[in-house]
Amino acid sequence: MNDNKSAKLVFNNKEVELDVLHGSVGPSVIDVRKLYGELGCFTYDPGYGATGSCESAITYIDGEEGILLHRGYPIEDLANKSSFLEVAYLLLNGELPKKEEKDEFENAITLHTMVHEQLINFYRGFRRDAHPMAIMVGVVGALSAFYPDSTNIDDPYERMVSSRRLIAKIPTIAAMAYKYSLGQPFNYPLNDLNYSENFLNMCFSVPAEKYKLNKTISDALDKILILHADHEQNASTSTVRIAGSSGANPFACIASGIASLWGPSHGGANEAVLNMLSEIGSKDKIMEYVNKAKDKDDSFRLFGFGHRVYKNYDPRASVMRETCHEVLNLLGVKNEPLLDIAMELEKIALNDEYFIEKKLYPNVDFYSGIILKAMGFPTDMFTVLFAVARTVGWVAQWNEMITDPVQRIGRPRQLYTGKVLRKFEPLEKR
Ligand code: CMC
Repeated sequence: MNDNKSAKLVFNNKEVELDVLHGSVGPSVIDVRKLYGELGCFTYDPGYGATGSCESAITYIDGEEGILLHRGYPIEDLANKSSFLEVAYLLLNGELPKKEEKDEFENAITLHTMVHEQLINFYRGFRRDAHPMAIMVGVVGALSAFYPDSTNIDDPYERMVSSRRLIAKIPTIAAMAYKYSLGQPFNYPLNDLNYSENFLNMCFSVPAEKYKLNKTISDALDKILILHADHEQNASTSTVRIAGSSGANPFACIASGIASLWGPSHGGANEAVLNMLSEIGSKDKIMEYVNKAKDKDDSFRLFGFGHRVYKNYDPRASVMRETCHEVLNLLGVKNEPLLDIAMELEKIALNDEYFIEKKLYPNVDFYSGIILKAMGFPTDMFTVLFAVARTVGWVAQWNEMITDPVQRIGRPRQLYTGKVLRKFEPLEKR
């Protein structure tokens, strides 16, 4: 059909007319829900590259043009003109807050930053060398045992409280994971600091010495958090949604998102980028790694390059690139060998036929690791910082899903290629 309202599919001499749905912007979507009922077949889309799993009004990405909008606002404007908590409010509520709304929200988040003292015992159960993401998955999941009052997902008020609790406590939990790995005492949150300052202080201050907060550094961290806050139906967000679709409580759902984020193809890429830059070690070895990445028989990939959706420069990477230079200038890092390697690698890759043809551009994780390293974070904390930021997106998407009247349990089907019905053989006959 060319009326843009429906699409026809013929299969096994049977025809079905499928509705075509149109969002406010972006490609049309063919509604295949009646396909199985009418034609007895499923769609096949491993990795869901051509599948819209839900309706959402939170984040829009145009991967061809390199555009990212949150509730209609370009990511560049939010990163340069807003604050992380303001963006959190926007993602959760759909509009930028007015002054009194902003004050109320920030105050509520500030008042929820402490965790139950009993939660400290969980940390002691981990080895000191445990990866902080392993600790995050465990401790965030455990929150449901501490706040059973806010696990009632059918009550809008309880959903709001659990959402705020998660956004407020995630930096405290992350900083505690870091302190635990160092063998240093945990720091309590300080209510007179903003979200990013508080996180830096909890990570870097010690009883013997106060951490000197620096506005450029805390603003840069705030920007990093904004840039990572949400990214529509990515792997971890889809994980949160599918976990939540069964009615699981929000703490359990966010723990599942953290687990999914950990992988090197997703949030773990920022850690992998820095490890890769260190492994490259010097500019003269870059080509060797570029060639490895291009070699079909080598599974090596250049971390920080490529994206499922962006087939253009990741708009978050442009902001991150600028911030990276600001932070390194401020800290007087004149010769950061890893940055030199990163810049050269970017130049080579952007001019290489393989990367041009496959539209592989630097993504958000390409620069974030260098900034976080300069701030003093060890590499295994990079993905944790991503999780702190993305909690806002997960929570916003989880809330949207719960209130979506068409939402039902996520239950994909499959293309079965296993054995067909066969007879059970007793052990002595096998
Ligand atoms: N280096 C070399 N080749 C690459 C890379 C890379 N980083 N990324 C993709 N390719 C090639 C890939 O081999 C394939 O080639 P061919 O068509 O010849 O088989 C082609 O490009 C398409 O790749 P794909 O695997 O089909 O693409 P995908 O959409 O499934 O994967 C990705 C997207 C992000 C997992 C992938 O680009 C990748 O592994 N990048 C490195 C990891 C990374 O930086 N991840 C962070 C993503 S941004 C933050 C986030 O969202 O969490």
